[in-house]
Amino acid sequence: MARSLKYDIPGPDWRVAEDEVREKGWEAIFGSELVRPLRFVVEIGFGNGDFLIDCARREADAAHVGAEYSRKRVLKTARKLARTELANVRLLLCTGETLIRELLPEASVRACWINFPDPWPKKRHRRRRLLKPEFVHDLALRLEPGGSVHVATDHVDYAEAIDAALASDPRLVNACAPERFLRAVPDRMPTRYEREWRAEGRPLHFFEYRREVPH
Ligand SMILES: C[S@@+](CC[C@H](N)C(=O)[O-])C[C@H]1O[C@@H](n2cnc3c(N)ncnc32)[C@H](O)[C@@H]1O
Repeated sequence: MARSLKYDIPGPDWRVAEDEVREKGWEAIFGSELVRPLRFVVEIGFGNGDFLIDCARREADAAHVGAEYSRKRVLKTARKLARTELANVRLLLCTGETLIRELLPEASVRACWINFPDPWPKKRHRRRRLLKPEFVHDLALRLEPGGSVHVATDHVDYAEAIDAALASDPRLVNACAPERFLRAVPDRMPTRYEREWRAEGRPLHFFEYRREVPH
């Protein structure tokens, strides 16, 4: 029997609506204990939220924003987050494209994590993929100088497209060079999908690109 979804939030509710961000701005949304200007750490498609929560604990001084377009996953993560001591995370029910293009200021993102984005393997669905050159260009503008974008995938064909999209932006440099990507990253908390795909023996690809620091 399917378990019913619990809607109550057992503590502070850290979800914010897109409109609230547009109207109030991030400065009002995040508490005064975070250093100004806010430095964002972003996760797109955070799934069960465990990686986002781990990042928020590791980088307590940053403003952590998760974007996820599954209502159920946002709700479940909001419930999980409410049981923690953390106050430096906000969850948005929106697409990663909207967060990056419309809601974050330029040169404000310290790190952006995209773990196992949906690969849309069928040719006719490829235009739905998140990692495309236009998205990467928008993201590169939001990264602060030295800020990084991390993308992980198990999908060989999508890995090629991700590499090409990341390499297409002149502001970004490959932090894994001379490799194009790594097969494993020590000291990284494995996400739910990472654990699943690794157990199945799928080839994993971890990309990291950084925005160049002007001389
Ligand atoms: C394959 S799951 C990976 C979940 C998690 N990152 C992990 O590694 O366990 C992809 C997730 O990204 C979300 N997603 C896919 N495309 C998205 C988009 N454009 N914007 C926001 N979330 C997206 C899906 O709802 C899903 O939760």
